[in-house]
Amino acid sequence: MSPIIHQILLFTHLTSVIVWVGGMFFAYFCLRPAAGAILNPPERLPLWVATFRLFLAYSALAVVLILISGIIMLINVGMSQAPTGWHIMLTLGLVMAVVFFIVYLVLYPRLVALCAASSWPAAATVLNNIRRMVALNLVLALCTIVAAISAR
Ligand code: HEM
Repeated sequence: MSPIIHQILLFTHLTSVIVWVGGMFFAYFCLRPAAGAILNPPERLPLWVATFRLFLAYSALAVVLILISGIIMLINVGMSQAPTGWHIMLTLGLVMAVVFFIVYLVLYPRLVALCAASSWPAAATVLNNIRRMVALNLVLALCTIVAAISAR
């Protein structure tokens, strides 16, 4: 693979990681406490629906780009030649993608439907499940970055 192609793949990989993981950090540690302190459920839950509509769409693109760019770089070196850290990154990246798509394709549509029906307690329960999934992915992201660095 030519160096410029590799640089483009790494650029795509890292900018996508920044968008996805940075967005999760912002949602969990900044928007969540602010929305919880200022808004009541009938305003807070629709705010999350509107925020996730865009964030999950951007993140879906980022997740696909991370997987494609990462797998191409990995295959280029060869699975048997690749450092252990890259194998760990592949495994954790795939687990993170599964967790993401459960949120995107299962929990988020449920949240939308419950908010449309003004079922605030049930919607709050689903939002809490999404929060747990995001917390899990943030921890996995930290582990993945440690794995990536350990391969240096
Ligand atoms: C299918 C999943 C993934 C695969 C196959 C994969 C593969 C790779 C490969 C092969 C590289 C090395 C590129 C090089 O230096 O030549 C890399 C770099 C990197 N990846 Fe991943 N990756 C995946 C997911 C992720 C995820 C989910 C994260 C973060 C949450 C991540 C973070 C990083 C970072 C920070 C680097 C830069 C490491 C460095 O330059 O030392 N990767 N990835």
